Amino acid sequence: MPSTTWNRHHILSLTDFTNVEYDAVLQTAASFQEVLSRRTKKVPTLQGQVVANLFFEPSTRTRSSFEIAAKRLSADTLNFAAATSSMTKGETILDTAKTYLAMGTDIMVIRHREAGVPNAIAQEMDRLGVKVSVLNAGDGQHEHPSQALLDLFTICTLIDPANPRIELLKGKKIAIVGDILHSRVARSNIWSLTASGAEVHLAAPPTLLPKLFAEYFSEQTAEEIEITTPYKRQLFLHWQLEPALRDADFVMTLRLQKERMTAHLLPSLREYHQLFGITRDKLRLCKPNVKVLHPGPVNRGVEISSDLMDDPEFSLIQAQVTSGVAVRMALLYLIGSGKV
Ligand code: NCD
Repeated sequence: MPSTTWNRHHILSLTDFTNVEYDAVLQTAASFQEVLSRRTKKVPTLQGQVVANLFFEPSTRTRSSFEIAAKRLSADTLNFAAATSSMTKGETILDTAKTYLAMGTDIMVIRHREAGVPNAIAQEMDRLGVKVSVLNAGDGQHEHPSQALLDLFTICTLIDPANPRIELLKGKKIAIVGDILHSRVARSNIWSLTASGAEVHLAAPPTLLPKLFAEYFSEQTAEEIEITTPYKRQLFLHWQLEPALRDADFVMTLRLQKERMTAHLLPSLREYHQLFGITRDKLRLCKPNVKVLHPGPVNRGVEISSDLMDDPEFSLIQAQVTSGVAVRMALLYLIGSGKV
């Protein structure tokens, strides 16, 4: 494992992540990627520790990815699904978390449809003076740090598989296209990708990309931003697709999150696909070796054409899922090691 000093106890957001921390995650994930290519894909790093996956909202890849990551590190795993839990009998979220604490949980991986739930549980654990770490696996429209970190790892390993590091993205153009308004994936990626010195271009219809995104960094002072990254953060907004795609190195498409839409924000899915759906044709505007990402799950034929999604020449979607295991092993290792 690369020697690194890691001081973060919980991983809740990427707002204050530093480039040193991004590199620690990338390098640790690269070592675990190597472990995962061996015949015996398991290390004893977290033997004796308990990782509880507390998913209060549906998930396929994130939950399974954290579970397999914990198992590859030899941790004991507990899986919780709200629909079959005592929450149906009225138990509160904090009481559920305390129940898992009482069973000796060391790391809680939390997903919830409300923003702030992982933070609230982390605060409660700190208040109780226990050593439990909390990892945000997606909270409402707020953040999804492990997804953005695996996206970063996927892109950096494509550029330099032997030595992925954040500076590899300096000067690259990355377009994030789709339902940005409802996307926690976009909100985390905005922080990691702008920290790398890349130009980040957001593109969506105005109803899915409110102007407030232009002020994304306004709550941080210049001084605070400098502490996290040596680069000036570059974020651009577009209500048309073309300027975002022109000469882009990477295009990240996002799912239309219909379950979070409370109003009719689009005339029709067909029109949306025509204007903002990513197709081979539209990719001609980008750099010739452009690559496409999507966090999944995908609405085939809506945000991305079905054939493009399956085309290994352009699509990194499967690579993202594979990277997810190594990156989540790295996160569990970094916050979990040294506790036993
Ligand atoms: C995303 C999520 O749940 O935030 N998916 C994921 O974790 N891989 C994106 C989405 O639901 O569209």
